[in-house]
Amino acid sequence: MLRHLLSIEDLNRAEAEALLERALALKAEWHAGGHPDAPLRGKTLALVFEKPSLRTRVAFEAGMTQLGGHGSYLSANDIDMGGRESVADVARNLSRWVQIIAARVFRHSTVVELARHATVPVINALCDREHPCQALADMLTLRERYGRLQGLRLAYVGDGNNVCHSLLLLGGLLGVDLALACPPDYQPDGGILERARRLAGESDATIELGHAPAEAVQGAHAVYTDVWTSMGQEHEAARRRPVFAPYQVNAGLMAQAAPGACFLHCLPAHRGEEVTADVIDGPASLVFDQAENRLHVQKALILTLLGAS
Ligand code: CP
Ligand code: NVA
Repeated sequence: MLRHLLSIEDLNRAEAEALLERALALKAEWHAGGHPDAPLRGKTLALVFEKPSLRTRVAFEAGMTQLGGHGSYLSANDIDMGGRESVADVARNLSRWVQIIAARVFRHSTVVELARHATVPVINALCDREHPCQALADMLTLRERYGRLQGLRLAYVGDGNNVCHSLLLLGGLLGVDLALACPPDYQPDGGILERARRLAGESDATIELGHAPAEAVQGAHAVYTDVWTSMGQEHEAARRRPVFAPYQVNAGLMAQAAPGACFLHCLPAHRGEEVTADVIDGPASLVFDQAENRLHVQKALILTLLGAS
């Protein structure tokens, strides 16, 4: 049974598929008028965020409200985890008041530590290593668009970062072929890649790792990119810009993907850097569907972790 979601590796294939099914059902119910049964009445989600957020925070808070519960947001200024109070004590205190915790942290070890000391479920709302909620919303978006996941080809162009890691693992789990183009010094983590390859072997999917965007996008149903500099790496921005410039997703690159290919980005985006405005604001872009799907997936995740029907 799923106890925490710290990594995509906490999910098996059946659990990941069930989450996507549940998210689709919740999406349909929400668009048809809402959730009159208010399954989370009286329940609180604590949002412990060390970094800024628009989508993750609002999707969690609105999701709790829509399900009859409440979200309590705690910024680094409020609780200063590890400074004012240890991570373990934050987890022990929160567990006495709230039913579930979502944490956005700098270090993956912090969500692991929270989960070790919490007696309630903990969700990784982004860390330096993974962004599992994002990857689930991305797969939901592809599933809606193509009616299937198995056998789709997803090209990821850019930094081998947290978003890339969760996509690798979830793609491998769900049978999506991944083709990566990352600069040589910005490849995904070797351990994650190896485990993603093992999952891909079981789901009959492939993972290609290269440096050439034009090769990665050949035959791709979707082209995905993320910022060149993630939160916490701001001091590297100037050094990264020239390295990543050849990895920009623009109309010329999209033209080399499969006909009708869609464009994906977790957002926030920097138009003119990793993607041009004509692509992200054009007809192939599904970025706001991805953003909406964060809501539905995160609701499905909370209900599942709380064992709510
Ligand atoms: N995509 C994403 O996680 O957005 P936020 O950083 O705004 O939450
Ligand atoms: N890779 C980005 C994703 C933001 C949602 C970051 O970590 O800043």
